[in-house]
Amino acid sequence: MKLRIDRITPLSLDPSPTLQVGKGAVDRITPLSLDPSPTLQVGKGRRRPGLGVSGLMRWVGLALVAIVFVSCRQDMHDQPRYEPLEASEIFADGAASRQFVEGTVARGFLGEDVGFETGLDESGVFVAEFPVPVDLALLERGRSRYDVFCSPCHDRLGEGRGMIVRRGFKQPASFHEERLLEAQPGYFVNIMTNGFGQMSSYAPQLRPDDRWAVAAYIQALQLSRQVPAAALSDDDRARLAGPEADQDEAAEAAEGGHS
Ligand code: HEC
Repeated sequence: MKLRIDRITPLSLDPSPTLQVGKGAVDRITPLSLDPSPTLQVGKGRRRPGLGVSGLMRWVGLALVAIVFVSCRQDMHDQPRYEPLEASEIFADGAASRQFVEGTVARGFLGEDVGFETGLDESGVFVAEFPVPVDLALLERGRSRYDVFCSPCHDRLGEGRGMIVRRGFKQPASFHEERLLEAQPGYFVNIMTNGFGQMSSYAPQLRPDDRWAVAAYIQALQLSRQVPAAALSDDDRARLAGPEADQDEAAEAAEGGHS
């Protein structure tokens, strides 16, 4: 038998599939009033029987799916710009990213001052003087960088028993060893710059000024065990006694609470 499509009966739809929203909730979905079905009239005008409720639901479903797909646009994800390493037809080499002009150096990365950059000056001697003012701000910066990048192995006190070491990594020397107490700040900066044995370089993580800040903090850690109490100011000595005094008070308070 030969099939011939005569015509497609147009759908007669209720104006729109309205969502009636009341009190913030969807109360009901007005059912679509459809012509029985979008029938393909085949051959001598034989008609499929009208759609039941299930057929109607299928059309509502299809309409919803269509709405979802039509509204799905990728504009925010696919913006009109080049991603790193993306190809481009604009340039002869086919790459969107351009090479630096030869000899370009990023601001602050000229590296002219070898002693400042590496802790080792031109004559191969470890720098003994800090090239930046050593103040509280520098020590705070040093402490924050040290705690992030060094303490996992050297621990927060510099004894070399950080968590990574306790999990099996080689144990470094304690910063409180005689040999390292005598080391110049440039020695620490140099090791951070170039690495040392099993320890890798931390130059990618720490700019030169941060390396000096960490070196200052390491020396502060060392000093913290070397200062005779008599050398402290009265204020600082008073604060030394502080925590214990506090504890005593707390203990008394606790006892008072129990009785
Ligand atoms: C992943 C662990 C690890 C981290 C993180 C690490 N180190 Fe080390 N460090 C070592 C080890 C291990 C050694 C000893 C290397 C060797 O002898 O092969 C060492 C050696 C050193 C030494 C030389 C000590 C000596 O014996 O002369 C210095 C100084 C030092 N580290 C400073 C630092 C500073 C500063 C940082 C943070 C910027 C840091 N390290 C971060 C593991 C680490």
